[in-house]
Amino acid sequence: MANKNGFTLWLTGLSGAGKSTLALDLKNKLLERGVEIELLDGDEVRTNLSKDLGFSKEDRDTNIRRIGYVSRLLARNGVGVISAAISPYREVRDEVRAETEKDGAAFIEVFVKCPIDVLAERDVKGLYKKALAGEIKEFTGVSDPYEDPLRPDITVETDRETVDQSSRKILVELERLGFLNGSVGNVNYTLAAARR
Ligand code: ADX
Repeated sequence: MANKNGFTLWLTGLSGAGKSTLALDLKNKLLERGVEIELLDGDEVRTNLSKDLGFSKEDRDTNIRRIGYVSRLLARNGVGVISAAISPYREVRDEVRAETEKDGAAFIEVFVKCPIDVLAERDVKGLYKKALAGEIKEFTGVSDPYEDPLRPDITVETDRETVDQSSRKILVELERLGFLNGSVGNVNYTLAAARR
């Protein structure tokens, strides 16, 4: 059976950078446009599918592989997937991209960028304060690595853009790739060309 070519929007960035907020806004905007959407949010996945995992490199990689696996199954069946997990390690993000593209679906890496001093200042969940005080070990960006994407398909800067502006940047790209007008053909070629 022919692939119905869905896509995965892979949001990556530090805790508190705005991945979940952006994901929700995008989801609503895409639903309005009639795009079938599933959202996989790191915080939520960790309460069910990845309940058994902590924050060591090994556990984070396992978490990302699980999210990647589910998103890949959905995307190859024509669903638009939004993943919103820190996904700090480049190698496993690239692995998920390769698997997704192998199935003929598009993988769009979105770097949700925000300087760490702004995040520590905002500290919505109060976690940076604790991490900086040494009360949380292996906290991403403080005492654990975050590897910036080298060639993200899209970068949004959440300390400089409104949620709506960031969402629109992404919608423009989805439109360009043909996902918003019912014609999803040639997606892989377009993506490959865009990345050259
Ligand atoms: S990931 O690294 O495996 O991609 P994920 O996105 O699922 O992380 O979960 C991150 C969320 O877990 C953060 O937003 C934060 O609320 C919480 N958290 C708890 N401990 C840590 C930690 N040591 N590092 C980062 N986030 C943590």
